Amino acid sequence: MNYSSLLLQIENQLLSLNKKGLKYINIGALPDFELKSVIDGLEEMISIENGISEGTCKTKNKPSEKSEKYEESPKENTEIGINPEPADITDQNKVLNLKQQNITQTFAQIAKPQDSAKKINSLSELFEKYKACQKCALGKTRKNLVFGRGLSNPPVMFIGEGPGADEDTQGEPFVGRAGRLLTKMISAIGIERDDVYITNIVKCRPPDNRNPNPAEISCCLPIIKQQIEILNPKLIVTLGNIPTKTLIPDVPGITKARGKIKQYEKWTVLPTFHPSYLLRNRSAMPQAWEDFKKITEFTFNSTQG
Ligand code: URA
Repeated sequence: MNYSSLLLQIENQLLSLNKKGLKYINIGALPDFELKSVIDGLEEMISIENGISEGTCKTKNKPSEKSEKYEESPKENTEIGINPEPADITDQNKVLNLKQQNITQTFAQIAKPQDSAKKINSLSELFEKYKACQKCALGKTRKNLVFGRGLSNPPVMFIGEGPGADEDTQGEPFVGRAGRLLTKMISAIGIERDDVYITNIVKCRPPDNRNPNPAEISCCLPIIKQQIEILNPKLIVTLGNIPTKTLIPDVPGITKARGKIKQYEKWTVLPTFHPSYLLRNRSAMPQAWEDFKKITEFTFNSTQG
């Protein structure tokens, strides 16, 4: 059985479990993930796998920006290890082996998310190390790697999910609609956006504004972990489920977890709603406001944090 049919089988099993009500799945050392994002990740792997033999990167449902890009540029296919027209069966086997190695490496990264190498002491060094990162497929479609922005010794660090279209274009986190709301909420508690640090769990934009999948999160984990170490904030505010569950796997969903102080290693974490959720669910604003008021207690009140 080839990888593609194996992945397809797994995907079908997950879809059928999903129909029976399973919503989250625990993958080894990683936190519980929404089943949908796992299935999206598998779908992507299947597309890449099919691309090996068919010369295109197909998606099962609708063509994504990425598949169109791959189809129009065979040179790019070669660069990412997809051979558009394998000359003979030996070449085809070589490409398959290469692709299987890539997939094995991806799974190895999921199993061992902590494989960050030597200790880096500054954000600029960290950025240099990852600015051309191609550890996962998001590196191929991003316009800019959105590393993070703000003070280098911030009282508070905000962590979102991943860049959207505006962030991808501008190379800065939270500059679109959700970002404008976040900026307003920060200034409503008397802090300037420039006086905090803002970043995301994944640094490259997931296409079609989908959630980042477990493999992508796993590839980016060493960056966020080192950013936290270097910045050493008094408080980390996680925006929504993905950053909260990535740092603290055992928390319940954000609706229950929000507003309750948690611990990630030696750091204090305050989970709250993601601003995009607030834009869609205005009725959650008062709860988010309650959470935001706690930020100043933990950052500027000398008896805490
Ligand atoms: N949503 C995020 O999670 N991060 C951004 O940077 C923008 C929107």
